[in-house]
Amino acid sequence: MIIVHIILCLSYTIGCEASDSGSHSLLIFATYIKGKTPFEQFSAVLMLDDIQVGYFSSKEPELVLRGMMNAENTPDPTDEKNAITVFTAIHEHMRIQAHNLMHNFNHTDGIQIHQEISGCDTLGSVIHKEAFNAECGDEFLFNIQQNTLHTDFKWPGAWDAVLLKHNKWLIASFYQPLCVSVLKKYMSNNSKRIMKKMKPRVRLLQNALTHSGGAQLTCLATGFYPRHINLTLLRDGQPVADHLITGGEVLPNGDETYQMRKRMVISAEELREKHHYTCTVTHLSLDNKLDIDLTFAPGPAATVSTVVVVAGILFLAGFIMMKKRHAGV
Ligand SMILES: *[C@@H]1O[C@H](CO)[C@@H](O)[C@H](O)[C@H]1NC(C)=O
Ligand SMILES: *[C@@H]1O[C@H](CO)[C@@H](O)[C@H](O)[C@H]1NC(C)=O
Repeated sequence: MIIVHIILCLSYTIGCEASDSGSHSLLIFATYIKGKTPFEQFSAVLMLDDIQVGYFSSKEPELVLRGMMNAENTPDPTDEKNAITVFTAIHEHMRIQAHNLMHNFNHTDGIQIHQEISGCDTLGSVIHKEAFNAECGDEFLFNIQQNTLHTDFKWPGAWDAVLLKHNKWLIASFYQPLCVSVLKKYMSNNSKRIMKKMKPRVRLLQNALTHSGGAQLTCLATGFYPRHINLTLLRDGQPVADHLITGGEVLPNGDETYQMRKRMVISAEELREKHHYTCTVTHLSLDNKLDIDLTFAPGPAATVSTVVVVAGILFLAGFIMMKKRHAGV
């Protein structure tokens, strides 16, 4: 539960902004746990945009890579060496940071969780954000084009002017070029995964609410990639006010596609007024917006439309069979 919370706290990352503007990011999500849990003390995943391309843990200090292979299908030794340097440095930083924070917050017993996001994007940014036991903490943002380092330190141990200058130099001359070169390599090795466009399947469903006599309207879009989608519910062609709508979070399907659903409750009275409802979806994979319509026609009318659909399916099946027969199958 805590982990989920921290990830939400850190979820505003360049990763999200990046894919909006057509750029790409490589981010390390690292977790350090102090205390007895069944999890690894230190573990980190390497994300190319929103796709996992690597994993590292304290159990076996080597990067398990997905995608960063050469022609012989073996990891590049230089990449491996650099990866171990970076992950080991993060591990060490988090170990010290967790120790200091624990004492600072007087959380000396129980389970302590420290999380970090570090990485870069193709726009020239390097980001770093930390959270401790679900509290957002220190962060910095470096921009190579403007050569600026913006820091926001909430915990003790903020960099003084000398350290700031040194770290800025270290980021600009080592971390940024390294991160971007690995990012570009991953992008070319995973181009099919990150550039793919998967069309959403959209359904507009109606469930009767027996208590109130009203209905719940749900628009579900699923199976799409990339994750950005606009899904709008309309009543008689007008967008339904936000406060009447629930849902709207983009959720992963676990197969590198996403889903989103939005719901609204329709009162029994509104139902009697027989409005026309539409779910409108726009997505990178679609040339035009996709409209799914639903007109409430309770009672016998609904039966009629079911009959029409069934008849349509039968007709289609017959048509296909006829075609097959004609083709001599
Ligand atoms: C931690 O405990 C010490 C001593 O009991 C106290 O002085 C300090 O204010 C506490 N710090 C926090 C963040 O609660
Ligand atoms: C969603 O709508 C906004 C505002 O109209 C638009 O800028 C953006 O490109 C749309 N996104 C998608 C994925 O269609």
